[in-house]
Amino acid sequence: MNAAVVYSSASGNTERVAKAVADKLADQGVSLAYRGSVPQADSAEEAEALSADVVFAGFWTDKGTCAEDMAAFLAKLEGKRVFLFGTAGFGGSEQYFEQIAARVSQNLPATAKLLGSAMCQGQMGPGVKARYEAMLAQDPSNARIKAMIENFEQALGHPDEDDCERVASAAVAALRG
Ligand SMILES: Cc1cc2nc3c(=O)[nH]c(=O)nc-3n(C[C@H](O)[C@H](O)[C@H](O)COP(=O)(O)O)c2cc1C
Repeated sequence: MNAAVVYSSASGNTERVAKAVADKLADQGVSLAYRGSVPQADSAEEAEALSADVVFAGFWTDKGTCAEDMAAFLAKLEGKRVFLFGTAGFGGSEQYFEQIAARVSQNLPATAKLLGSAMCQGQMGPGVKARYEAMLAQDPSNARIKAMIENFEQALGHPDEDDCERVASAAVAALRG
């Protein structure tokens, strides 16, 4: 069996988790045909990634789903076994993560078999907090904006080692079935 770990990461959070997934698979003796970011369409790297039987695909959450590069890549996974992993700015609810993973999985062709998914929280950039604070200044009693600022603080430092370990373990467990 041959595997590939392919990720899309705008600010490094998902890349960190992908590294943990790839390292753990390699530790378990799984041979990796490709590990890296989403390859260019029709490149040699893409051919390597698509030569794998099992694809571990990591995405960052962009407006409730994955970014377009990952969506396009997932659509190419005809007949593959696929494990999805991802990071999202909002955490605290497994249900929220499951809903995103379900949406992302809709990019897979019908012939792909989804082995499972795992997600964790990923910190957001300082511009996001500045935007929330400006919103709160306009509307100081708005509980929803306060909760968004709280979530921002909670996300700082994630993904941490525990997040990476949890997602990587879930990936290995899904492979072993
Ligand atoms: C343009 C943009 C849209 C985002 N949309 C969402 C979203 O809909 N839900 C969410 O939970 N997080 C959202 N986030 C937060 C990121 O998904 C999160 O910080 C992620 O860990 C970034 O991963 P990366 O560092 O691998 O790019 C968004 C971030 C950006 C920049």
